[in-house]
Amino acid sequence: MTRRDLEILHDTGAFNPSPRHRELSVTHVPFDTMTGTRGCEHALTAALRRQERVTLVGPSGAGKSSVIAATLHPLVEDLVPLPIPVAVERPAVAGDPVAFVRHLVQVVSRLVQLWQPESGGRARRIENETAPKIKRAKGFSVTPGLVGVSVRLAYELEAAVDEPTHTSDEIMDQGRQILDLFRARGLTPVLVLDDTDRWLSTTWLPESRQTRGAFFATVPRLLSEELDAAAVIAVHPSYLDDHAFRAARGFLSRMISVPAVPSAGAIAAILHRRIAVAFDARGLAAIEVNASCPNLDDRSAIFAHSSGATSDVVSASRVAGVPLWVKLSPNTPDLVAIAGAAIDAGADALVLVNTVLGMAIDIERRRAALGNGGGGVSGPGILPVALRAVYECRAAYPTTPIVGVGGVSTGEDAVAMLMAGANAVEVGTATFANPRAPWLVQSGLVEWMERHGVASPGEIVGAAHG
Ligand SMILES: Cc1cc2nc3c(=O)[nH]c(=O)nc-3n(C[C@H](O)[C@H](O)[C@H](O)COP(=O)(O)O)c2cc1C
Repeated sequence: MTRRDLEILHDTGAFNPSPRHRELSVTHVPFDTMTGTRGCEHALTAALRRQERVTLVGPSGAGKSSVIAATLHPLVEDLVPLPIPVAVERPAVAGDPVAFVRHLVQVVSRLVQLWQPESGGRARRIENETAPKIKRAKGFSVTPGLVGVSVRLAYELEAAVDEPTHTSDEIMDQGRQILDLFRARGLTPVLVLDDTDRWLSTTWLPESRQTRGAFFATVPRLLSEELDAAAVIAVHPSYLDDHAFRAARGFLSRMISVPAVPSAGAIAAILHRRIAVAFDARGLAAIEVNASCPNLDDRSAIFAHSSGATSDVVSASRVAGVPLWVKLSPNTPDLVAIAGAAIDAGADALVLVNTVLGMAIDIERRRAALGNGGGGVSGPGILPVALRAVYECRAAYPTTPIVGVGGVSTGEDAVAMLMAGANAVEVGTATFANPRAPWLVQSGLVEWMERHGVASPGEIVGAAHG
């Protein structure tokens, strides 16, 4: 380890005792992994999927926020976390059901507002134009704060939170309606009350003990009886003997304790993860040089249609001093020779393939639909093209790392890509329909491997070559 490495660990706060909240889901090492049980993260996820109200018990700093962040991170398909700060930000809502529900509505409103006005408008336009003609089971937005929520649902939520309310009943109805909108789309909204142990440290909030008593006397019953909502409440162990908490137990379905970090090995795993995250953030692991962009006026100008030009591009890019991946074109009969030129010039890996040249015709206006005359075709239709490119280059260059890309949208597609000879797989177009597509491809690949007794993806790389 160099001094520079130590500076990176220092500057990135790798060993910060209170990591930033958005880093928690990546730095978290599951307690289930460390303890070899399914009593923490797995139990929490399962309980929330059953719409339960869970108390997550642990001292301050034990990892409650980490467990929650890792359990409800954006790649979890069906659980939508709604973080409801109560302890310091809004203690006034703790003992008042109507104020609490109004706060919930405001939280959802804030999440929806994270939509930029123009993208919200564009989303509505897309919905309006496509809804009558195309029935999409799932369309996903990448709205910050509402990752994984469909554009249509975000629009419905926006309308629901804007609905004026006057009476207590109307506010309660609005809260229920918002939660129902998520459920109608097959999602489980999870109210996350993660800051309650801050009442212990807010000495400047004189009546914090009373506030927390009012909270446990009010909110668990509200969550259970009025809202019937899944929730996770982070609870300090010292609260367990509080009268109000004990009285609330009947409204809280399950208690999960954050385990102690079990061993020196587990501590090493946590430090290892933090170091890895810090070094990942340090900069580039590799550069992928696109030598094959199809959107050029002059197709002969595509570098990857010529061995000489590809070689020049690779040589010029080597100055970057990091591993170099070169993205090549399927639109040339000389792909294998051009790949050889890239390798000879110093490419560390081949990325196969870019889009297939294509065009669309606007038949009403009798002209090319795309500004540049033509463009690139991507998505499932080009998987066979990509497979063949990977297969032929693997046969010609048995030891060169190959990244397969083109039409991959399922785990089985990834399996085929690996069998053709790819060492790794990229997912492009499928992410437009679902930003979680890479995760789905990965989990589909893992499922396939488990069904077929394959222990590691490396076992099937090149398997189709016999
Ligand atoms: C809208 C769009 C933009 C793209 N832009 C780039 C680009 O800037 N650089 C690049 O190397 N490939 C680009 N590609 C190609 C993709 O990275 C990928 O090679 C190709 O789409 C095939 O994979 P897919 O079927 O998974 O999308 C683009 C593809 C699409 C559809």
